[in-house]
Amino acid sequence: MRTLPAILLSVRWIALIAIVLVVNSCSPVSDTDKTDEAIQKKVNELMAQMTLQEKIGQMTLFTSDYDVTGPTMRDNYKDDIKSGRVGAIFNAFGADYTRKLQEIAVNETRLGIPLLFGYDVIHGFRTIFPISLGEAASWNLEAIQGAARVAAVEATAEGLHWTFAPMVDIARDPRWGRVSEGAGEDTWLGCRIAEARVKGFQGDDLAATNTLLACAKHYAAYGAAQAGRDYHTVDMSERALREFYLPPYKAAADAGAATFMTSFNELDGIPATGNKHLLTNILRHEWGFDGFVVTDYTSINEMVPHGVVTNEKEAGELALNAGVDMDMQGAVYYNHLEQSLNEGKVTVSQIDQAVRRILTLKFKLGLFDDPYRYSDLKRQQELVMTPQNLETARDMVRRSLVLLKNNNQTLPLRKEKINIALVGPLADNQQELIGSWSAAGDWKKAVSVMEGMKTVAPAANLLFATGCNIADDTTAMIAQAVAAAAKADVVVAVMGEAAWMSGEAACRSQLDLPGVQQELLQQLKATGKPLVVVLMNGRPLTIPWLDQNADALVEAWFPGTQGGLGIADVLFGDYNPSGKLPVTFPRNVGQIPIHYNMKNTGRPMDPNNKYTSKYLDVPNTPLYPFGFGLSYTSFTLSEPRLSDTVLLPAKELKVTATVANTGNYDGEETVQLYVRDLVGSVTRPVKELKGFQKVFLKKGEQAEVTFTLTDADLSFYRSDMTFGAEPGQFVVYVGNSSDNVKSATFTYLQK
Ligand code: GLC
Repeated sequence: MRTLPAILLSVRWIALIAIVLVVNSCSPVSDTDKTDEAIQKKVNELMAQMTLQEKIGQMTLFTSDYDVTGPTMRDNYKDDIKSGRVGAIFNAFGADYTRKLQEIAVNETRLGIPLLFGYDVIHGFRTIFPISLGEAASWNLEAIQGAARVAAVEATAEGLHWTFAPMVDIARDPRWGRVSEGAGEDTWLGCRIAEARVKGFQGDDLAATNTLLACAKHYAAYGAAQAGRDYHTVDMSERALREFYLPPYKAAADAGAATFMTSFNELDGIPATGNKHLLTNILRHEWGFDGFVVTDYTSINEMVPHGVVTNEKEAGELALNAGVDMDMQGAVYYNHLEQSLNEGKVTVSQIDQAVRRILTLKFKLGLFDDPYRYSDLKRQQELVMTPQNLETARDMVRRSLVLLKNNNQTLPLRKEKINIALVGPLADNQQELIGSWSAAGDWKKAVSVMEGMKTVAPAANLLFATGCNIADDTTAMIAQAVAAAAKADVVVAVMGEAAWMSGEAACRSQLDLPGVQQELLQQLKATGKPLVVVLMNGRPLTIPWLDQNADALVEAWFPGTQGGLGIADVLFGDYNPSGKLPVTFPRNVGQIPIHYNMKNTGRPMDPNNKYTSKYLDVPNTPLYPFGFGLSYTSFTLSEPRLSDTVLLPAKELKVTATVANTGNYDGEETVQLYVRDLVGSVTRPVKELKGFQKVFLKKGEQAEVTFTLTDADLSFYRSDMTFGAEPGQFVVYVGNSSDNVKSATFTYLQK
């Protein structure tokens, strides 16, 4: 017979064991149990304790007041954190500040679930790299991944867990300001760059304190906004969507992107944020994506003005039923989801599924091990804007520059015994260099072109004159710039856009140089001195006069913190430019959309036949084509040699060409491989990029480059919408630009 004390003792033990079990169930996921099974067990145990309000809190993302990236601001997000009704905060960074917010979540809420901190770390965090379109112009996947890696190290050193990047929207319309944020117009290149950026941000271990959750955005087809106007309607065939716009998102998912962000636009009449075909059928069922989906900034709310719902509560129901897990800044789930559940418009299992996806990533980040592991002042002091990070950024600047013209070897400039008239509104400018979406970058730490030239060529005599402003009609300064030019051996004019002229909600209907820059250039040209123009811009510009009149023309995009140094490295020949355009430069806006992989049409342009596809006032060809970029040296490329004239399913066809450096400088060429399917069950582009290789050759050297083609490279969405190759004749091209190629033909046989 057991005595009362004995019984009480055993009850106490049972209670103690129960407490240990419960505490253990929320205890940090120890190193050993990072397996999916172990994490799911802990997620389930935690969810079993959560109230509906707490679950909806995990589905809610609010901005802090550190930075503003959208149209609305909530009043006090700290009270929301304390109430356990917000699970993630964006636009907050810094070891101290994130720690402070985290302490509220961990110590002052019932379950102490750590916050997720997100931010737009697009092309650098404190060390700002060239804008993403500039990085893409490097065609250097290793360098692009390295840039994302530096950004992740710096961002996580300041408490961040999650970046709203990479932006992988295909953009064929340079009027759209956000062409600056992506990888340009090409699907294949866009896929490779999406993979590189996801790997750079996420590394190979999300539990490491220097890796960020990536976020593939803006899903989907946001870059196809009509008339290049941001947030505008997107309407395209399922075929075009799947052939040209979806692959980079899938490439990001396949590379392991932890999260996706829905786009503002509608697609085929349904806003992406309420589009079950996109968010569930394709993303989940076809692609097997298992991370979480966050909306763009209040994009749930915006389904009301889109006109597919009558109020925000219905918008929340449409979003959750479509597959949206987290509501960015809209407070729609926050305000209405409980009522929607009570009305049976959504289900507990839908809410639980969303919460599970979110908590799983918080566990994978190790936030339940140590919620403060990313908010580490020591790492913040040691890992941000280090000399190594700055050198990596300077290297990316050099690689991102595209040499568009160089008549009579105007460039490179000699470093001494030279008078250089350095003019233009961006010549001694720091503020514009870091471009749009410059995160926590400090423009005051950016190296201007003037500073960079003084550093790289201290013996050069720089005669500086602004000449004009970026965008106003002041002409009073032109005379001073012309006077400087008159005294100089060469003019270097740094022209272009202001950073605010591209990026979100920054579309332009005309793409000329703004203000009176053209007038300044014409007067500089009239001095007869060699005219070197360096362009800083977030998109292709229509610059036919420059094409005709500049002696040298360098596309520098917005080059970031180290911009002036990287540009000077190229201008003075310390680096031979190797960039290639990731996007077409039109001759005028009337040509848009214009991209290299157009269709042939039934009346392809024939200058001798009026009744063919062309304009009366401008050629069909662009000013500068996709893949174009010059070098200080010259390269030749042989005809492609094929391993066979027939390709069979699951077999390989080797394409080899010889590239030679025939000029006076060591340099790097980007050999591009394109394919054309001459006859398909649907019309096919006149060429499509299927590979590239960057080859560094000393002057006089040559090398062979070999590509491997398989039937996967020939596959497309056929007339019945199945994906695969079709037998027939193909042309394979090798070249150093989409318009400068040599070809060979082969046959694909299916048996
Ligand atoms: C913005 C952008 C998106 C960004 C988000 C958070 O509206 O569309 O790219 O990640 O809001 O700042």
